[in-house]
Amino acid sequence: MNIFITRELPGDVLAPLAGLGAVAVSPHDRPLTPAELRAGVAGADAVITTLHDRVGPDVLAAAGPRLRLVANTAAGYDNLDVAAITAHGAIATNTPGVLVDATADLTMALLLDVTRRVSEGDRLVRSGTPWLWDIGFLLGTGLQGRRLGIVGMGAIGRAVAVRAAAFGMEVVHHSRRGTGIGLDELLSTSDFVSLHCPLTAQTRHLIDEAALRRMKPTAYLVNTARGPVVDEAALARALHAGEIAGAALDVYEDEPKVHADLLALDNVVLTPHLGSATSETRTRMAAVAVENVVAVLTGGEPLTPISPSASEKS
Ligand code: GLV
Repeated sequence: MNIFITRELPGDVLAPLAGLGAVAVSPHDRPLTPAELRAGVAGADAVITTLHDRVGPDVLAAAGPRLRLVANTAAGYDNLDVAAITAHGAIATNTPGVLVDATADLTMALLLDVTRRVSEGDRLVRSGTPWLWDIGFLLGTGLQGRRLGIVGMGAIGRAVAVRAAAFGMEVVHHSRRGTGIGLDELLSTSDFVSLHCPLTAQTRHLIDEAALRRMKPTAYLVNTARGPVVDEAALARALHAGEIAGAALDVYEDEPKVHADLLALDNVVLTPHLGSATSETRTRMAAVAVENVVAVLTGGEPLTPISPSASEKS
């Protein structure tokens, strides 16, 4: 059997694949080009992908009829055309669960950073600018008693809600499953809005110009979900116009690019897609992808299948 892995994986997580067949790991320390991806998957029985690998009909055709599994090393799977994978007779899997705490922790880190001006203060200290404590110096805003609006109440949204409650926040949510309050009400009444929905055709640019206008001028937006859920140009405009107070972003519309107008703003915290980036979590994510390969190629059930009906192309 042939197993193709599009990026090197951490630790010795590949050990369970020994004896299953030929394992080929991309020699490139970067995302593959579409042509490299098509060449790499040719004749594969299973492919382990990352969120950079777009798997659609072209890649499936290049893989050929042996392909039984596309194991994405991410919780989000907007890079996979799950309907096409299913139609090809293969299974798609992701790595939910194991990255919930890491992503929820980063969400709180971003929320605290942007509201307490941590990165801004760090930049100031490093710049050598003279500073001294005074009663009004670099004031931020507290979280206690404030309303956090969570958009998308899956496992990560719920984990953020638990943390927010511990910080004394009032939590409301909006979910595509119909629980919680309406999106407009959430946007217009929340002091902080945090995004935890998947990227789908329905959520692309969910936070657009009109949504940003609904937010309070004192509100902050946090995005640790997927970049295209936010219209980045509209966000940059809203921040420059003072329509919202600030934003903290871990994901971008066209990674690794960041809208140039965001870079100059001190009330914006920008991290490079670190949601799941702890060594424990990344190792567990890789291990789940590998376990899915072992399960499917030995005739068993995948651990974390993506239901074709639950997925939508983005
Ligand atoms: C990372 O962004 C993931 O979706 O797992």
